Amino acid sequence: MPTAPPHPAASETGDKLLLTPGPLTTSAAVKQAMLHDWGSRDAEFIRINREVLERLSELACGGDALVTVPMQGSGTFAVEAMLTAFVPRQGKLLLLCNGAYGQRARRIAEIAGLAHGMMETPENVPPNPAALAARLEAEPGISHVFVVHCETTSGIVNPLAEIAQVVRRFGRALLVDAMSAFGAIAIDARRLGLTALAASSNKCLQGVPGLGFVICRKDALAATKGNARSLALDLYEQWSALDKTGQWRFTPPIHVIVALHHALAEHRAEGGVAGRCQRYTGNCRLLVDGMRKLGFQTLLPDGLQSPIIVTFHTPADPKFHFQTFYDRLKDRGYVIYPGKLTVADSFRIGCIGHIGPEHIAGALDAIDAVLAKMGVSRCAPNLAA
Ligand SMILES: Cc1ncc(COP(=O)(O)O)c(C=O)c1O
Repeated sequence: MPTAPPHPAASETGDKLLLTPGPLTTSAAVKQAMLHDWGSRDAEFIRINREVLERLSELACGGDALVTVPMQGSGTFAVEAMLTAFVPRQGKLLLLCNGAYGQRARRIAEIAGLAHGMMETPENVPPNPAALAARLEAEPGISHVFVVHCETTSGIVNPLAEIAQVVRRFGRALLVDAMSAFGAIAIDARRLGLTALAASSNKCLQGVPGLGFVICRKDALAATKGNARSLALDLYEQWSALDKTGQWRFTPPIHVIVALHHALAEHRAEGGVAGRCQRYTGNCRLLVDGMRKLGFQTLLPDGLQSPIIVTFHTPADPKFHFQTFYDRLKDRGYVIYPGKLTVADSFRIGCIGHIGPEHIAGALDAIDAVLAKMGVSRCAPNLAA
């Protein structure tokens, strides 16, 4: 007998739906993949691990020139490993920053003692490739440029292709935080000439949290020997141990890797990056149209909006309290996300994870009902304030 589809307000396992930038709702099969034990030195796990790393390189259109180096921990561990491996002691890093993850990269650089400079734009404004060209021309000492592909603070997609073209023209190296979009917005690392990108298991690949990874040019990685500022985050040593033995230097997050192996099979079955992008774009369109119909305003114009997460301005109506709104939506099965903007009051709703149009439609109905209960009648923000 066919089973009934899951209620729109619950995941396949009955959990609340995470409309967040990750960790996010995963399929039942991805969770079930973790219900076993594996030895970290066992051939079966070594095979699964190798397949995961090879597939990740393929998703970056890597070919033989690229390699994926995994890193235990969350995405930040991978970003820190990437920056501290690739920027040598005599190098200088230019950080393009329009949100919290650009600022986090700056903190990494400060703590590690990397020479660095900033090019900042407001949270709703992408970096300007012409200004970047002028800066690189004026500062020949800048060896590396860092950019966040999709800045989750706002949901903006930064112009990676244009930035990569400028960085290539000036012969510098480009390091990318691709965390929130990898697997859903195409990145051809070879064509773009990237030196490295960092991402993690628990975002658009729809795995569980616990694994970061850096996909990088093998020749550039080989030149990083001795650059690391930390034992555990030493990307070169991590790679060289794996390359020699197929085994991790230190305990791997085995269950996370096995779940990611399954998640990658689901990703492939959905049509890879293009298929996932299509579903998320549909989710995003439905969400933005529905919220605008209710009177909400998005921070970003549609041309800058990623299909990953949407920032909405907080309504000016004095009856709107975010915490009440959040709690009542959660009671109905939908977990949304607070805002992270420094410039305006806002909240965010994610479009990613194992969710489809029926879940977004369910969330919109729940939002409508909660607003009515709260007595909120005007969802437009007061942007003059
Ligand atoms: C663009 C971006 N970079 C870095 C991170 C940091 O990842 P984590 O919280 O897994 O350390 C995130 C997390 O949301 C992100 O969206």
